[in-house]
Amino acid sequence: MPELTELAPSAARDWITRWDRQQEMYLADREDRFTALIDAVEAGTGRQDPLVLDLGCGPGSLAVRLLDRLPGATVIAVDADPVTLSLGRAAYGNVPGLRFCDVDLRAARWETRLGVEPDRRVDAVVSTTALHWLTAAELSELYRVLASLLRPGGLFLDGDHLRLDEIESPVLARLHRVLEEREGRRRFPDGHVGRAEEWGQWWRAVAADPALSDAAAERERRTVAHHGPEGALLAVHADSLRAAGFAEVGTIWQRGSNRILAAVR
Ligand SMILES: C[S@@+](CC[C@H](N)C(=O)[O-])C[C@H]1O[C@@H](n2cnc3c(N)ncnc32)[C@H](O)[C@@H]1O
Repeated sequence: MPELTELAPSAARDWITRWDRQQEMYLADREDRFTALIDAVEAGTGRQDPLVLDLGCGPGSLAVRLLDRLPGATVIAVDADPVTLSLGRAAYGNVPGLRFCDVDLRAARWETRLGVEPDRRVDAVVSTTALHWLTAAELSELYRVLASLLRPGGLFLDGDHLRLDEIESPVLARLHRVLEEREGRRRFPDGHVGRAEEWGQWWRAVAADPALSDAAAERERRTVAHHGPEGALLAVHADSLRAAGFAEVGTIWQRGSNRILAAVR
């Protein structure tokens, strides 16, 4: 990937602030979910210097919040998107303990590119709003790899919208949807128009920044695309985690289908 030298840290942070606003439009409880997830890392790993992987890190929003709370941690922030990686590196290149890693989670043996010493096991794997991009087969392979990277008792914590299966639980799935819609209307009676940039608007604006044009062109060449809806099903994740050998699997924080799915290695 071409290295970006022109992007000033302050400009990168401005883009990331706009990214955060854009993500919050789809996810009003995003900060609360970050906070709960970091609470779980802190309480669940029981150490001030955990080694943490952030999968599908985007520009590093979760990683920097985690390091703010746990400055002794090491976070390897993994993504395959050259634009968000460039923003994260430019904005947070001097944050101690943070390293961005250009890795596609669908690639064979991606874990060998993390630069983790062979005798060091990972204390926690975290992710937000990212793993639903993967297919059921890719998730099943991913969880098998994570089971080998995590230390015994290590934690997997995934903050994402994970839904009930409409065929298995049609009534509950419908109720879930209805409650979410009603809550959304109560919280945002005027709708979302004009609240912040949408996903597509943010990406068009970023691509028009000359300091990001090389990264945007590289992004066009790679296709890190959303797959079908199966990655958004709770059961697909829970079943694959159990099959990979995780001991306890369950939701530890929830707001509608927006939840933190946790699993213990
Ligand atoms: C909606 S963004 C969320 C980013 C960040 N976690 C956050 O909460 O702001 C989803 C991220 O997952 C990344 N992603 C999706 N599939 C991926 C894959 N196969 N390998 C690496 N990253 C992936 C995307 O590039 C994107 O940055």
